[in-house]
Amino acid sequence: MASIDISGLVKDYHDRAGNRTRVLDGIDLSITGETFVSIVGPSGSGKTTLLNIVSGIESHTAGNVSLRAGDRDARVGYVFQDPRLLPWRTVDQNLSFVQHDRDGWAERAQHYLDLVGLGHLGDRFPAQLSGGQQQRVGIARAFSVEPDILLMDEPFSHLDAMTSRTLREHLERIWLESRRTVMFVTHDVTEAVQLSDRIVVLAPGGHVHETIEVDLPRPRRASDPAVAVLQAEVLARFEVLEARAAAARAEVPA
Ligand SMILES: Nc1ncnc2c1ncn2[C@@H]1O[C@H](COP(=O)(O)OP(=O)(O)OP(=O)(O)O)[C@@H](O)[C@H]1O
Ligand SMILES: [Mg+2]
Repeated sequence: MASIDISGLVKDYHDRAGNRTRVLDGIDLSITGETFVSIVGPSGSGKTTLLNIVSGIESHTAGNVSLRAGDRDARVGYVFQDPRLLPWRTVDQNLSFVQHDRDGWAERAQHYLDLVGLGHLGDRFPAQLSGGQQQRVGIARAFSVEPDILLMDEPFSHLDAMTSRTLREHLERIWLESRRTVMFVTHDVTEAVQLSDRIVVLAPGGHVHETIEVDLPRPRRASDPAVAVLQAEVLARFEVLEARAAAARAEVPA
């Protein structure tokens, strides 16, 4: 079973004058097993920084991060904000490229492309796909390496509302079929409610403001009243936090 364990995580940035800005201030977070956890928070609260530290792209100042699968290091997949497909390779070749010669990749690639509804487009090049289709290939590619842990940073934020709604449904379906430990960053609270078992709200200053358990049956539809009610409730709480963040910014002298 995979787990992400973060304890006492601190991140400071220093500017050229040597001034320190603390963007993560003692984050403790444990995600264990086949759980889908979203990280939400106002802009600048440190969501991307947190994900980048967890993925190893970025260093941290203090604290510990451990990504384990049983008694070994976890295999980690990453879905970016833009799909980052290789333009000179077909869809199939983009998936095969990340497989590092593991056996059975062609079946796996086909399986995950089918799950995102693109099983018939393996011969196309990325430029021959819409933005939403490219992002679906990105998701299929991330799942096809069968990582223990999947990290996603706002994978739908560049897409229009209708396309991102469809992609959320695809993501939930693929996750239900192939459960992973997921850490998903989004600024969209309603998206977090639809997809997550747990929502971690980061506050400006980089600490955990609150944690919300989402205990709704799956698959979830945006049109389901129970989903809509919880979305409205969480959004109302989030708006209070955002207003506080905006007020704090206004108090900082220019
Ligand atoms: N390389 C850097 N040097 C200095 N400060 C940085 C650097 N990268 C990020 N920051 C600062 O760290 C804070 C957190 O940034 P981060 O990108 O993690 O926020 P975020 O929650 O992902 O925001 P958004 O919702 O806008 O994507 C911000 O105040 C940002 O200005
Ligand atoms: Mg960000």
